[in-house]
Amino acid sequence: MDKIRIRGGNPLRGTIAISGAKNAALPLMTASLLTDHTLTLTNLPDLADIATLATLLDQHGVGVVRNGSVEDGVRRNVQLTAATITNTTAPYDLVRKMRASVLVLGPLLARCGQARVSQPGGCAIGTRPVDLHIKGLQQMGAEIELESGYIEARAPRGLTGAQIVFPMVSVGATENLLMAATLARGRTVLVNAAREPEVTDLARCLVAMGASIEGIGSHTLTVDGVDRLHGACHAIVPDRIEAGTFAMAAAITGGEIVLRHARLDLIQAVAKILSGAGVAFEERDDGVKVSRADGALIGVDVMTEPFPGFPTDLQAQMMAVMTTAQGAAMITETIFENRFMHVPELARMGANITVHQASALVRGVPRLTGAPVMATDLRASVSLVLAGLVAEGTTELNRVYHLDRGYERIEAKLAACGADIERVRPN
Ligand code: EPZ
Repeated sequence: MDKIRIRGGNPLRGTIAISGAKNAALPLMTASLLTDHTLTLTNLPDLADIATLATLLDQHGVGVVRNGSVEDGVRRNVQLTAATITNTTAPYDLVRKMRASVLVLGPLLARCGQARVSQPGGCAIGTRPVDLHIKGLQQMGAEIELESGYIEARAPRGLTGAQIVFPMVSVGATENLLMAATLARGRTVLVNAAREPEVTDLARCLVAMGASIEGIGSHTLTVDGVDRLHGACHAIVPDRIEAGTFAMAAAITGGEIVLRHARLDLIQAVAKILSGAGVAFEERDDGVKVSRADGALIGVDVMTEPFPGFPTDLQAQMMAVMTTAQGAAMITETIFENRFMHVPELARMGANITVHQASALVRGVPRLTGAPVMATDLRASVSLVLAGLVAEGTTELNRVYHLDRGYERIEAKLAACGADIERVRPN
């Protein structure tokens, strides 16, 4: 298995092109199931999760044509054509690889009146149930049974609009029900809907496909079902989590990085917190410049929240940044119950972190030291890369496949800014 080897200590300087957002691309790809016409998505990131979803869609009968190479960047695209859906089962083998596969449930049910989707199990960051997806679809008239590890859903007479009040904010449930509602009979109102930019991107694409959606970007989405959707061409929103991660690479190494294509309005909460820690953000025509010219990082408290709050997907990276800050930082995770898997690995690099329930107290240390490390999820893995960039000596990150799920060519992007980082392939 590949490893990433980093020799820490270089301040990063340069420009990094931010890719299309993984967490927008995945639901957008499943939206192709809603129409028999072609959906074209540009700015497609080149990631393992995208390939997994393409395989799943292919076995539902969707024609998947990917165009463009890595160098094409924003022009890289995928054309998805679900002229005929040949199979409404999402099998265990694919769903267990990637939980976002459950996003085929709403579109398949809305288009075909039936779907059989393997229940995603728990994962490294929490139990992650899908009860809100299921309850919402039941409110829209679906008959759903859980049998032999599968969600068996049927709506022989189609789905009907309903008022669905989410008891908590869920990105995936909002996306699944939003897609289902576009083809339902009548009006669906999603109350306490997620407002994440990836949800907004999906809603905009659905509108381009002929859906009627009001309240995009707000807590309440009102969808008037239509008989059919048509094709569209949609550019995937830039990845705010990738942008935030590289902003933190600039912060932790005391460097200066221009995040090309990044949008400051999507990382406001991150910019605000990092500004308090001594990092400067500047909006530019081509993106956002992030710098920590001089002075030490200062410990700041952070609490994860649904958008527009500080994202849980940047919590691990922020913790890495705080390990060498002056003073202490209290980092509280409110979205997932078990998202501190990076703590023991950061501690092996010399970090001083105490976890009490949902909060981690990080006391800044003068330096980290390189070590062999590994993590069990994507963002925890990248937090170890950030720590490795500033640690003395060599850090070797194992289980790189987690990184490849969500960061496109991360070692090349960091190396172009002066990081001493390489991918080591087994002989
Ligand atoms: C999305 O996951 C993202 N994944 C996650 O990104 C992200 O961490 C998360 O949203 C929160 O922002 C994709 O977009 C593909 P949720 P999702 O439903 O939709 C609970 C990454 O690193 N919940 O908003 O699965 C759930 O357990 C990843 O890129 C229920 O209880 O997240 C969690 O505690 C990981 N019942 C909370 O809600 C449900 O039916 C928020 O989860 C659904 C969710």
